[in-house]
Amino acid sequence: MEKLFLFLLELSPKIKRTLWRWWYQNLVRSYPQFDWKFMNYGFCDVNSELGNLNLRQEDEENRYFIQLYHYLASATDLQDKIVLEVGSGRGGGAAYIASYLKPKKIIGIDFSQENIQVARQTYRQTNLSFQLGDAEALPMDSDSFDVVLNLESSHCYASMTRFIQEVYRVLKPGGIFSWADFRSVEKLESLNQIFKQSGFELIQTTNITPQVVQALLLVNQRKQKFIDSYVPGFLKTAFQEFAAVENSEMYQSFRTGKNVYLNYVFRK
Ligand SMILES: C[S@@+](CC[C@H](N)C(=O)[O-])C[C@H]1O[C@@H](n2cnc3c(N)ncnc32)[C@H](O)[C@@H]1O
Repeated sequence: MEKLFLFLLELSPKIKRTLWRWWYQNLVRSYPQFDWKFMNYGFCDVNSELGNLNLRQEDEENRYFIQLYHYLASATDLQDKIVLEVGSGRGGGAAYIASYLKPKKIIGIDFSQENIQVARQTYRQTNLSFQLGDAEALPMDSDSFDVVLNLESSHCYASMTRFIQEVYRVLKPGGIFSWADFRSVEKLESLNQIFKQSGFELIQTTNITPQVVQALLLVNQRKQKFIDSYVPGFLKTAFQEFAAVENSEMYQSFRTGKNVYLNYVFRK
């Protein structure tokens, strides 16, 4: 099943986009649990880069997923800023930022109507909203955001070039774009070329694969338990790959260096 999915993903950018939308729409329909707030691989602070990140008791169970957001967001001070998150999923990350990092406002955009609905139902903060939208055609005015964040979403896009052009368009001059996602090492050259031609000034690049791999290990049991309890047999392997549980090909690809997880920070 997952082999067919991976094969179809490579067929054409349009099919890739359609398949990912289908996947995320169905994920919410099948697993609407409001306590499932994050869909990233997480970040374990192995190098003590985050300082002492104090979380409320109710957020502790999502610490590693939150830490990945915190790492992404610490590219710049978000206080009183106007922030856009592209690919906000179930909304946990934007909600964390809205309540802990105090932007003036943060808008989460996602192309899954179901994700947007769950996020709106789960979070009600005055500086936080969610909107349906496509990363490759952002429904926002030009020069309107101080910061754009994008976490573990861009591997789904049909055109990375169009996405980067859109981020550049909606950011104010001097605005910051913090991006994090995984890529196969083979595709890094072409990705870097897209960034190079974007007009952005590259401020920082960090390989955070070790932090992500450690987080994957630490949340492994919880994910495996979820899959064992809720996922039907014929979908189990596909889910294990999606969640990068220990010994999945996805997890192994990080261990062997075939895939890397990166954070790049840019200024317009
Ligand atoms: C792995 S999830 C990560 C979600 C969230 N950033 C998090 O860390 O929990 C990827 C998200 O990107 C969204 N996405 C994929 N392609 C998109 C597109 N073209 N436009 C907007 N959102 C997209 C998916 O619907 C999904 O919510």
